[in-house]
Amino acid sequence: MAKVRPYYADGGLSAAFYDEITAADASLAGDVDVYAELAAEGGSVLELGAGSGRVTQALAERGVSVTGVDLSAAMLARAEARRKGLPPEVANRIELRRGDMTALDLKRTFDAVVCPFFTLAHVPAGAAWKNTFATAARHLAPGGLAAFHLPRLEIMRNLPPANPQAPVFDRTLADGRRLVLFVAERTFRDPPAKLDQVLEYVVVDTAGRAVQRSPERLTYWMTEPEPLAAAAGLTLDRPPRELGGAGDIWIFRKA
Ligand SMILES: C[S@@+](CC[C@H](N)C(=O)[O-])C[C@H]1O[C@@H](n2cnc3c(N)ncnc32)[C@H](O)[C@@H]1O
Repeated sequence: MAKVRPYYADGGLSAAFYDEITAADASLAGDVDVYAELAAEGGSVLELGAGSGRVTQALAERGVSVTGVDLSAAMLARAEARRKGLPPEVANRIELRRGDMTALDLKRTFDAVVCPFFTLAHVPAGAAWKNTFATAARHLAPGGLAAFHLPRLEIMRNLPPANPQAPVFDRTLADGRRLVLFVAERTFRDPPAKLDQVLEYVVVDTAGRAVQRSPERLTYWMTEPEPLAAAAGLTLDRPPRELGGAGDIWIFRKA
């Protein structure tokens, strides 16, 4: 197997094809509606792990000003390209910044903070989660809400073993090539509740030749979020909202 890159790395295919994969992911249906409820039109949202701007754009289109922060230059480049294609009044509501959600201080507050699509699960459960909850709290006024979409532990635990021969995604792209995705490696250990996967992205040309291959490592950590959020002054505001059978959106309020 070719050299394994981290997910969302420069030159990797997980960043290049992030939008194609998420557009086909039914488990995300409706997530933006949940985040949009947290800030009124004209309000402001800080998005932690904004990625290629999927949620950022949708919130800005609803009249919300969004500051999107991400660690990955490749993902931010995609978000910036997306922003440039938007009508100016929407694009002007978006600010993109490179930064680490575990140690971010923008010296201002927002009406809400959102951390979509398992972004918190990308960092180790423990100090990194606690520090991310502290980042959310630091950017909220008292009473402000923070939403974290987290995976379900029982789903992570019960995923089938890797099968490098069986595609888990196979779609024809707009230019006629195919994008095929395989799970090359998958382990789940508990404790710590850690899912480690190598996903192999393969681009197949119109003649059926594999012209690009990129194995990329995606790791998720999961734990009970309430105690770590509480340490940052965030208390659960309502029961977690189930999303697509794969995860829940946890909404916390700053005391
Ligand atoms: C699954 S994507 C979510 C992107 C977007 N919010 C969405 O919902 O489509 C997770 C993103 O979190 C980013 N990320 C991971 N760890 C991060 C960190 N410590 N600080 C900021 N961003 C991080 C990754 O680079 C990636 O773009």
